[in-house]
Amino acid sequence: MPKVVFVEASGTQHVVEIAVGESLMQAAINEMIPGIEGDCGGLCACGTCHVYVPQDWAKACGEADELERGILEFSFEVNESSRLACQIGMSLELDGMQVMLPKRQY
Ligand code: FES
Repeated sequence: MPKVVFVEASGTQHVVEIAVGESLMQAAINEMIPGIEGDCGGLCACGTCHVYVPQDWAKACGEADELERGILEFSFEVNESSRLACQIGMSLELDGMQVMLPKRQY
């Protein structure tokens, strides 16, 4: 199965196998990765699954839609690499991607 590495703000890394089609948020919740809250269950409504996607991987993740961009406006320390992990579906193209977690979600 393809893998994504979740990197906490402290630098601690978590390698997670994710089935193709599953969201990064759901996989992180299943593995109890610290720092991913996923309060709305993936409905793109809470912004508590904020991650930073490195520029090299951004294209493979697809573009954030208007709703996602709107929710991200309320997330903590947003920058141009910010994405909501519930809106990124795993694909073979994303195998090996590292995503960084913010210091906190609120
Ligand atoms: S889980 Fe709520 S916006 Fe992603």
